[in-house]
Amino acid sequence: MSISILAIESSCDDTSAAICVDGKILSNCLANQTVHEKYGGVVPELASRAHMQNIVPVVDAAFKKANCDLSNIDAIAFTQAPGLIGSLLVGAQFAKSLALALDKPLIAVHHMQAHVLANLIPEKKPAFPFLCLTVSGGHTQIVLCQSPTQLKVIGQTIDDAAGEAFDKTAKLLGLPYPGGPLIDKYAATGNPDRFKFPEPQIPGLNFSFSGLKTSILYFLKNAGASNVYKEEFLANEALQKKFVSKNLEDICASVQNRIVSILLNKLKKAAKETGITDICLAGGVSANSGLRKAFTELGTKMNWQTYIPAFEYCTDNAAMIAITGYYKLLEKDFADLSISPSARAEWS
Ligand code: KG4
Ligand code: ZN
Repeated sequence: MSISILAIESSCDDTSAAICVDGKILSNCLANQTVHEKYGGVVPELASRAHMQNIVPVVDAAFKKANCDLSNIDAIAFTQAPGLIGSLLVGAQFAKSLALALDKPLIAVHHMQAHVLANLIPEKKPAFPFLCLTVSGGHTQIVLCQSPTQLKVIGQTIDDAAGEAFDKTAKLLGLPYPGGPLIDKYAATGNPDRFKFPEPQIPGLNFSFSGLKTSILYFLKNAGASNVYKEEFLANEALQKKFVSKNLEDICASVQNRIVSILLNKLKKAAKETGITDICLAGGVSANSGLRKAFTELGTKMNWQTYIPAFEYCTDNAAMIAITGYYKLLEKDFADLSISPSARAEWS
C-alpha cells in the first residue's frame, strides 16, 4: 500500500505545499511574497497576512500538479519550528484543521532537519552516516546524520548565519532584499582575490560572521582604503558610493570568496575529525553558485561523495517537509492535535 503525504511550509515568507508518495515528490508549489522588498527585510505581520491569502491556492496547485485530491492523503506534515511565529501559526493551523477534518495523522517537522533531508529527495542519496553543511538565512550548521531521524549538530554559528552575512553585505552595498542571490550574480564577473577580508579564528567546528560584517562595513566607509575603523580614513558619502559602483563585481566576488572559504574550511575539519566522506549541502545559501562550485571541487580533491539538492529544494520549500514527514511516518512519530508551533526550537 502506498503512503501519500501533504506537506505545508510557512516558516518565513514563502508559502509552499507539496505532495509526496512513498518518498517521491509529485509536486512542490510555492508562492513568493514580494510585499517585503520595499522594507529591506521580511515584515512578520505582512508575512502572516500573505500566508493567509496564499495557502489555499498553493495547496490546490500542489494537488492539481500531483493529479490527486484530499481523498488520497494519508497524513499531513507541517513546519512546526523554527521561524516567524505568525507565519508558522498559519501553516500549523491549516494542517491541524485538515488532520482533524480528514481524521488523518499529523506530523510536526523541524525546518532545519527538513533542509538536511532535502538530500534524500533524489534517487542518488548519501549513505549514512553523512555530514551536512546547512546554510540558510537564520542558521549555519554542520550536522552529523546517523539516520533520517538521528541528527546531531556538531558545529554552528555563534552569531550571524551565512545567509545573513550575504544579505547584510548586500544591504551595505545598497542592493535590495534578499541580497544573497544578487551578490552571487555580481560575483560571477568579479575578481575574488582583489580584496582581502579576514577569516575569523573560532575554535572547533563553530562559525562566526559578525567580524566579517564589521570589516566589510569599514572597508566600504573607507572606500576600500582599509577595513578597520580610523576617523581619518572615513570617506565622504559620495566617494563611498563611487567606490561601490566602480568595484561592485570585485567586492561581491571577494566577499563571497571569504564566506565560502569560512564555510568549507570548517567542513573540511569536520570531515577529518569524523572520518565521514559522504557530504551534503543544504539550505538557501547552497543555491550560491560560488559555494556549489567550490564544494564540488573540494569534494573531488578530498575524495568525498558530494550531494547538493536541486535548486528548488535548497531554498524554503514544502518538498523537504514532505520527505521528512515520510521518514517520521515510517517511525509512527505523529503529533497530537494540541501541538503548537514554536519560533525557536532547540534541536539535537
Ligand atoms: O533556507 P532559506 O530559503 O530560508 C531560511 O530558512 O532562512 O535561506 C534564505 C537565505 C537568504 O539569506 C538568501 O539571501 C540566501 O538564502 N540565498 C543566497 C542565494 N540564494 C538564497 N545566498 C547567496 N547566494 C544565493 N544564490
Ligand atoms: Zn530555510
